Amino acid sequence: MDKINLKKIKRAEAKFFDNLANLRTRKKHIIAQEVDIRRATKYIPKKNEKNSFLIDPKMTNKLGGNARDRYIRELSTKPGAKILDIGCGSGWLALELARHGCHVEAYDLSPKAIELAKKTLKENPFKKGFGSVTYHLQDISIMDLGVEKYDGVSGWSAFHHMPNVPLFMDRVHKALKPGGIVASMDDMPRGKLEQCLEYIFEFILPTYNLSYLQKIKFVLNLITGKSKLRKEVFSPMEKAKHSNVFEISEAFGNKFNVIYTIQENAFVGTPVMRITGPDWFRYFLASLAISIDRLLCKLQIVKGFERIMVAKKID
Ligand SMILES: C[S@@+](CC[C@H](N)C(=O)[O-])C[C@H]1O[C@@H](n2cnc3c(N)ncnc32)[C@H](O)[C@@H]1O
Repeated sequence: MDKINLKKIKRAEAKFFDNLANLRTRKKHIIAQEVDIRRATKYIPKKNEKNSFLIDPKMTNKLGGNARDRYIRELSTKPGAKILDIGCGSGWLALELARHGCHVEAYDLSPKAIELAKKTLKENPFKKGFGSVTYHLQDISIMDLGVEKYDGVSGWSAFHHMPNVPLFMDRVHKALKPGGIVASMDDMPRGKLEQCLEYIFEFILPTYNLSYLQKIKFVLNLITGKSKLRKEVFSPMEKAKHSNVFEISEAFGNKFNVIYTIQENAFVGTPVMRITGPDWFRYFLASLAISIDRLLCKLQIVKGFERIMVAKKID
């Protein structure tokens, strides 16, 4: 691997996530979910609001709250557990683990994300039973993680940002105490069927961003080639494709004992977050759409987009 090139990509990666952190702090009265899930603000953008982003913690909980809670529970079962959070971003997970009594060492490349995480930590009102968090602005992929140092290692959408996943997972294995927990959340590559269903659901459901007339126009423009489908956004490290999410599952299977795995939300994520109308109506439609998605996942007709894996170090 070209070292100079990799350095450049990591700089671009830090900038990419700096921009995301800036976006999260743009509206002063809003707390993003990626910053603090307990204090996240509900914010529904107005119709046609430019660069808007929708936050509805209740909707996020409907989509993946149970799996996320299980993830946190598995890492924090041992009282005062010492946890390593790799690619911690704006810090929501490190903060939440500390609220469960853990002592967290959290690392990220992005100065803005770490700055935001530190600010949120200072503001934290949930002090009872709080462990601790130490944030580090550091490239964790080149660090020695130590030997039998941690009770848990977490990578929420982060392991595949490491340039060499198998090598990194070797270090994680070494750094975990016997019986220690490793957990990962990963966005999986989406198939054509899942993509189609996402658009169909976005078309059918009443969404805040487009009226039905605008949707029909969009479809007609698609047919005549005047419009294009939206592209998925990838960070520089993801684009460089040094590693992928399948290497993570392989390492989990080879080196650890997998105790929990779930793959859900094949196509509902974006459409459901965009539903417009009174709350009771939004949550009702969302529950319906999510049930259809879960059923199709269970029948293995579609593959979930969000995968959570939790595993134990085999002694
Ligand atoms: C998709 S984000 C996930 C952030 C966070 N875990 C969350 O749930 O919001 C991936 C994070 O990994 C960080 N990252 C990428 N490469 C890294 C590296 N080599 N060392 C430390 N952090 C890194 C990025 O800056 C980014 O914040």
